[in-house]
Amino acid sequence: MLETKKVASVISLLNNIQRDYAPAALATSFSIEDMVLLDVISKHAPEIGVFTLDTGRLPAETYDLMQRTHERYGAVVEVYAPDCSVLAEYVQAQGPNAFYNSVEQRKQCCAMRKLVPLKRALSNREAWITGLRREQSVTRNDIQRMEWDAVHGIPKFNPLLDWSEDEVWAYIRENDVPFNELYTQGYTSIGCAPCTRAITEQEDIRAGRWWWESPETKECGLHVRQESKAKDTETAEA
Ligand code: ADX
Ligand code: SF4
Repeated sequence: MLETKKVASVISLLNNIQRDYAPAALATSFSIEDMVLLDVISKHAPEIGVFTLDTGRLPAETYDLMQRTHERYGAVVEVYAPDCSVLAEYVQAQGPNAFYNSVEQRKQCCAMRKLVPLKRALSNREAWITGLRREQSVTRNDIQRMEWDAVHGIPKFNPLLDWSEDEVWAYIRENDVPFNELYTQGYTSIGCAPCTRAITEQEDIRAGRWWWESPETKECGLHVRQESKAKDTETAEA
């Protein structure tokens, strides 16, 4: 059961971000968390932008949800794509699935398809917002509501940091928010198609991402932590 005060606190934080950090934007991968935030933004803080990094390798089900999102909320999601000549060169030189060969080649692919477009997406923003939750992995269990993103030089907000997966689903159900069909097929964390698989009940929720790599390398670089600068956001919540 989702407490109304939890939703109220997210609305209040997003209102404050809209007021104090314009132009700010939500980064959406169309996860259930990002869909909750998109729904709250569309209802309560519509001046906050929304963007997605379309890597070109997303699952068909994610593109299907992108289409349904467009039909439900309008053309609100700005799409950032990789540079096509860099992409063509990489694919020709290394092959389309070179990310399976080594961690370095995988990180090169993530850099070209996600990190460079992210830099462009954030270049004129005062803050960005993500759907990260503490429960998602051990590397995320100490994230703060507001953190300093030293790579992009702007604050990063994680409004759902203390939500459980059940609470996210409760919001989705109560508000009839569209969601990715892959969640009904055992997927719990969804990225690019060739780098994401379903998990078994015993596995960690992010076990299906880059499953052939060891846990320490399983980051694409979107969320670089700066421990010393992380701080909670009493001011942004006020
Ligand atoms: S990742 O670092 O492993 O890829 P994850 O899929 O858990 O991240 O998503 C965490 C948050 O990062 C999402 O809630 C979203 O805010 C952002 N994010 C991840 N992938 C994308 C994407 N392709 N486009 C935009 N934002 C993304
Ligand atoms: Fe490339 Fe896989 Fe990273 Fe997507 S998740 S950008 S396909 S390596």
